[in-house]
Amino acid sequence: MVARLINEDEIARMREAGRLAASVLEMIGEHVVPGVSTEHLNELCHHMIVDELDCIPAPLNYTNGPDTPPFPKSICTSVNHVVCHGIPSEKKILKKGDIVNIDVTVIRDGFHGDTSKMYFAGEPTVLAERLVRVTQECLYRGIEAVRAGARLGDIGHAIQSHAEANHFSVVREFCGHGIGRRFHDEPQVVHYGRPNTGMVLEEGMTFTIEPMINAGKRHVRILPDHWTVVTKDHKLSAQWEHTILVTTTGAEVLTRRAEESLPG
Ligand code: MF3
Ligand code: CO
Ligand code: CO
Repeated sequence: MVARLINEDEIARMREAGRLAASVLEMIGEHVVPGVSTEHLNELCHHMIVDELDCIPAPLNYTNGPDTPPFPKSICTSVNHVVCHGIPSEKKILKKGDIVNIDVTVIRDGFHGDTSKMYFAGEPTVLAERLVRVTQECLYRGIEAVRAGARLGDIGHAIQSHAEANHFSVVREFCGHGIGRRFHDEPQVVHYGRPNTGMVLEEGMTFTIEPMINAGKRHVRILPDHWTVVTKDHKLSAQWEHTILVTTTGAEVLTRRAEESLPG
């Protein structure tokens, strides 16, 4: 079933989950520096989510099915050529010039808020800076395509056309998703497509948009840990994610941060 909020009480609870998830990304920024381990970032986020926000970190022990082990940490940390679902580790120490996606999903009062952003450890290269900026623009263009009556293909087209105009590629194997009481619900929100195709958006639907954009080719591979997704050519990848509520006039961005000027 497509994730859809049916009354003001559910909308209020999704707003709260989104706001709390966003606050974790706001907290962690100053800690993303050369020399820190991704496990330390995980511990800081876990502590805030559980002890300060009174939420559940949705990734911890999350399972994809019987064939994959549960995800062992509370956030995903995806560095450089890691596309998504990077597992925090004491052994992964950030170095100057690294780019890292931190992906936070909290459960609050039964509802999920899911959001991620890119951080720089020290000064990025010109290419890294451009990839990260264009990927954020892709997310924003996707959000701008959202309103009741628009279609999923409009979102995918907005993202794909901007990425490819900048000579980057769009990852196809992973996509945005309906979200609400369930972490990963219908519909699948792919980040490529043609205008005026796919499911028609209706007021009250909630889903994520989370484009993964590669500096090289779009192809990816999963490491033997069953989770970490990397680019096949080992070139850089970036991702930004928001949880969105469809309204008659546009999108309400439930995971908006204070630094962003976005509807929501
Ligand atoms: N937060 C990711 C998403 O955007 C999913 C992470 S699932 C995990 O959908 F198990 F890898 F954490
Ligand atoms: Co998501
Ligand atoms: Co996420």
